[in-house]
Amino acid sequence: MSKVAVVGVGYVGLTQALGMCKLGHEVVAYDIDEQKIQKLSSGISTFFEPGLDELLSSLSSVNKIVFTTDKSKLQDKDFVFLCLPTPQGEDGSADTSHLLKAFSDVSSLLPKNCHVIIKSTVPVGSWKAIKKSTNRNDLFIVSNPEFLREGNALIDFEKPDRIVIGAETKNSCGLVASLYKDIDTEFLLTDNTSAELIKYAANSFLAMKLSFVNDIAALSENLEANSKDVLHGVGLDNRIGNKFLTPGPGWGGSCFPKDVRALANIADKEKIMMPLLTAAIESNENAQDRVVSKVLQFFNQNLKDKKIAILGLSFKANTDDVRNSPAVEIVRKLQKMSAKIMAYDPAVKEIAEISQTKTVDEAIEAADLLLILTEWPEFSEIDQNFLMSKIKNPVILDTRKILDQSKFTSNKIIFIK
Ligand code: UGA
Repeated sequence: MSKVAVVGVGYVGLTQALGMCKLGHEVVAYDIDEQKIQKLSSGISTFFEPGLDELLSSLSSVNKIVFTTDKSKLQDKDFVFLCLPTPQGEDGSADTSHLLKAFSDVSSLLPKNCHVIIKSTVPVGSWKAIKKSTNRNDLFIVSNPEFLREGNALIDFEKPDRIVIGAETKNSCGLVASLYKDIDTEFLLTDNTSAELIKYAANSFLAMKLSFVNDIAALSENLEANSKDVLHGVGLDNRIGNKFLTPGPGWGGSCFPKDVRALANIADKEKIMMPLLTAAIESNENAQDRVVSKVLQFFNQNLKDKKIAILGLSFKANTDDVRNSPAVEIVRKLQKMSAKIMAYDPAVKEIAEISQTKTVDEAIEAADLLLILTEWPEFSEIDQNFLMSKIKNPVILDTRKILDQSKFTSNKIIFIK
């Protein structure tokens, strides 16, 4: 059992803190946000993530984890994970000011030989900036990027594809690896800079993959090919792999858009041309615009008084996160064109200027078109009878291909391709 602290108890930090606790370590989770700490201390999670509430209340009820705003509780910790947000700065690069500030707030308190582990996604070289920002030369700076998917964070923590640890010495790598020793996965022990770059390269590669997938799906539709079969056929090649091949209205969230731009910015500074990154961003914008164009085309370019039922507002299923959500972007564009929107999402609370309903029924009631934008599993259960009893015009644009079209046999139903 090691003495571990987590600084910054957002999405990554809370998952890391609970995960470390579950692995048997003594964990203090520190944040400057009093309200957040109060909530977490009483066993209530601050965001929606499957399984998190249950894990939080089971660990809090046996006092296994301490949430605090008192930084003196970090004084005896051998490992301190920095889990601060690194939002997109004006030039596209990631802004590390929260990270540097949090580190400078706590660094003087940390014990000798403490390992300070950067979990946040940071511009390559940030570990050096952290190191330079303190006169403590008895601290070890380690880079251990997170690879958690929202909606799947706890599973990704316990069963990751790999754990990447970058440090200046093998000893530091080994000590940090030992924190995760009960996790059965591949450990990649490397230097800090490589660890930092792996994170950006992985997210950007995945975003590029999806841009290509969305373009191939659009091309398939135009050519009257079956996009599902085409992509499945492509993914059967082991070198490509069958994961992350589902087309949609574009990729979004708090990571891909930010990280692709940040990598482009890093490459620019190094004068390395990486045109695939800008092309991936452009393709992603096209993917969203294609959805809007299809709706416009169906209604002969006039959306005035058209009621559009929207299913899904989050950037993907199993999360209430709407940051850079293609669904929200598309809804806003349709609204600008005078469409009347009624949106339903099982997890998203309120979004300014978007009318939301409490049920699928209410959203679909008297609609002129049903537009599915997020792949929430419950949407796949919508059947023909239910649809026909509610909707005004049985027209469906299913951007996530979640409905089984073969079950919609009525010739009155139109699926927009
Ligand atoms: C992403 C990465 O997948 C994680 O490995 C990484 O740790 C995380 O960013 C991060 O940097 O923190 P996340 O943003 O939670 O995770 O979402 P993904 O599941 O990767 O999905 C990203 C976008 O791609 C979503 O808009 C989703 O709808 C879309 N997507 C994903 C598809 O359109 N099709 C797919 O087949 C998969």
